[in-house]
Amino acid sequence: MKLPSNFYKPLAIGAPLPIRELPARPERMIHFFPPHNEKMRSKVPDLITAVDVLLGNLEDAIPADAKEAARAGFIEVAKRFDSPETGLWVRINALNSPWVLDDVLEIVSAVGNKLDVMMLPKVEGPWDIHFLDQLLAQLEAKHSVTKPILIHAILETAQGVKNVEAIASASPRMHGMSLGPADLAASRGMKTTRVGGGHPFYGVLADAGEGEEKRAFFQQDLWHYTVGRMVDACVSSGIRAFYGPFGDFSDDQACEAQFRNAFLQGCVGAWSLHPRQIEIAKRVFSPDVAEVRFAKRILEAMPDGTGAAMIDGKMQDDATWKQAKVIVDLAKLVSKKDPAFAAAYGL
Ligand code: GLV
Ligand code: MG
Repeated sequence: MKLPSNFYKPLAIGAPLPIRELPARPERMIHFFPPHNEKMRSKVPDLITAVDVLLGNLEDAIPADAKEAARAGFIEVAKRFDSPETGLWVRINALNSPWVLDDVLEIVSAVGNKLDVMMLPKVEGPWDIHFLDQLLAQLEAKHSVTKPILIHAILETAQGVKNVEAIASASPRMHGMSLGPADLAASRGMKTTRVGGGHPFYGVLADAGEGEEKRAFFQQDLWHYTVGRMVDACVSSGIRAFYGPFGDFSDDQACEAQFRNAFLQGCVGAWSLHPRQIEIAKRVFSPDVAEVRFAKRILEAMPDGTGAAMIDGKMQDDATWKQAKVIVDLAKLVSKKDPAFAAAYGL
C-alpha cells in the first residue's frame, strides 16, 4: 500500500505539486466538439463564451480514420485557447486502444499548459488512474507543465461501478466522474439502445383495482442507483459527479428531466452533445431562483448556523442551514460567471 504521507507528492521529479482542492468554478455543462471537423472548429470562439467547459472529443463518435486529425485539430484549438473563465478538456481514447499513447504524449507536449482536465473513458479500477497519473507526471516534468492536468473518469463499465470508490480516491489528480450510460448499458447487458434517459418498460405498475380500469404505470429512473453510488463515491473523496450524455436531441423535455434528477441527487453538471443542450444544462444546474431566495432566508435566520428557526411554517436547524449553504454557495459560484443569474438571485 502506498504510504498516506506520499499521496500528495509529485510522481515524477520536476512535475508540479498535486492540488489539494479543486478550483471553484461552475461546470454546468461539458460541451463536446469533434475536433477533426473544420466547420466545428470554426465555431469554437462562439462556443467558448457560451459554455463552462469545452471538450475536444477524440474517443467514441470519432471514426478510426479521423483519430489523428481529431488529435491535431484539438491541439490547434488548444494553442489558440485563451479563456481562463472556460475549462479546456479533452476526452482521450481508452487505455487499451492503439491511439491513446500518442493522444497523451502529443497533447501534453504541445499544449500541456493549456489543458485543465483529461477525460479517461472506460475506467475499470484505480489501476487505470494510476497508469495515467504516472504518465502525466513524467510528461509534465519533461515539458515544464506548471499546473497538474487533472483526470476525469467515465463510469461506464460494470467493473468500474464495482470499483467506483477506489477510482474516486485513486489520486489527488482526480477531478471527478461522469456517468456513461451507453457503454455502461452495453457492459452490464442492460436491454436498451438509448443513450441515457429512461425506458418506457422500466417502471412500477399500480395495484390492481376491483374493476376493469386501466392500471397506472409509473416510469422509473434507470440510472438512479448508479448516479447515487457515483455521487457518494465522488463527494466523499472531494471530487465532482456529472451526468453524462443524453442522446435524443429531439426530446428536450426528457433531457431536462434526466439532468434535473442528476442535479437533485448531487451532480454538478452534464455533457452537452448538441448546442440545444447547453441552455438546458445551464437552466438545470444553476440553482432555482425561489430555492436560492429561500435558502438565503435560512442563512439569515441562523447567522451562526446553530439552533432552530421557523420560516413559513417550516422547521430549520443546523442541518437545513447546511442544505441552504450548498445552494447559496452554488448560486454565488454561478453568479460570478453569469450576471443574469446574480441579478435573479439578488446576489
Ligand atoms: C459515454 O461515453 C457513454 O458511453 O454513455
Ligand atoms: Mg462511452
